Amino acid sequence: MSSQSPSSDYGGSDYHIPVLPQQTLEAFRTGRNGLIVDATAGGGGHSELLLKAGYQVIALDRDLDALQETSKRLAKYGEAYRNIHSNFSDIDEALASQGIEKVDGILADFGVSSHQLDEAERGFSFMRNGPLDMRMNQTQTMTAQDVVEEYSESELKRIFREYGEEKFASKIARCIVQDRGEKSFATTLELADFILKIIGKREKIHPATRVFQALRVEVNDELGEIKTLMRKSLDLLNPGGRMALISFHSLEDRLVKRFIAQHAAETIDRPEWPEPRPNPDYCLKAITRKPLMADAEECERNVRARTAKLRVAERI
Ligand SMILES: C[S@@+](CC[C@H](N)C(=O)[O-])C[C@H]1O[C@@H](n2cnc3c(N)ncnc32)[C@H](O)[C@@H]1O
Repeated sequence: MSSQSPSSDYGGSDYHIPVLPQQTLEAFRTGRNGLIVDATAGGGGHSELLLKAGYQVIALDRDLDALQETSKRLAKYGEAYRNIHSNFSDIDEALASQGIEKVDGILADFGVSSHQLDEAERGFSFMRNGPLDMRMNQTQTMTAQDVVEEYSESELKRIFREYGEEKFASKIARCIVQDRGEKSFATTLELADFILKIIGKREKIHPATRVFQALRVEVNDELGEIKTLMRKSLDLLNPGGRMALISFHSLEDRLVKRFIAQHAAETIDRPEWPEPRPNPDYCLKAITRKPLMADAEECERNVRARTAKLRVAERI
């Protein structure tokens, strides 16, 4: 790891460059320097920015490799930094294991790190040949190869359509199921080349992009994890505490946007009601009306920032 790379000015390393660094720090600038959970430690870039600003940080990650990396990088912060190997959907149990009931902030920067994408053997990228794996948590059993080889045609079609928004979902699912007795789907390139043959190159992006996204979301239950994290965060945040959530594709952002809208409305109105009624779920104040996005300078130095959207809400 190079501590001298240009990205280190923004809290980054060769492992991962954190997106929206200033906006993320700003999200927690509430005048109280308390305890923040970084639910997605990754390379520890966001955690370090928070530590430098005087917060205590508990970082979670389900990838042991990421936790080893961040432990080394952040050891110099001593007791102000702790990390726990955990899915963020188990945030309540992870904090209870440290005797913590409430926190002042929860940050989540969803998806995979650059390091996970770059390591061919993790199997996340159709650009690199490796096992068709895609598990963020290497102790989990189900891999992307299992999904491709074992799911029914209708299940494959559903995940390609719902999680990949792939318009050729039916055709791809049908062809996989027809050919999988004879053809191997053990590697990333075997699957990527197969999809290229079936649907051809029609757009700028690689034709396997959406299927790879769908498999990753399925293998790691990414949307279920986000829903549970957001729900549990409501009980864990102190009044005035904030959640800052960074999404990278429309499926994630839609969940976050709806969750905040559902909890930030004081009243609900329905056409059949004579007047609006109090919203029983009301417990958040939306801090960002529109998502915060990276400026041109950040997009230039960090390609990943181009699709990043940060939404912030405060517990009331
Ligand atoms: C985009 S990276 C985070 C990068 C980090 N903010 C930084 O500055 O280096 C996302 C990380 O979250 C982890 N992750 C994703 N989903 C998770 C989940 N449900 N529970 C725990 N960790 C998760 C991934 O393993 C990955 O290391």
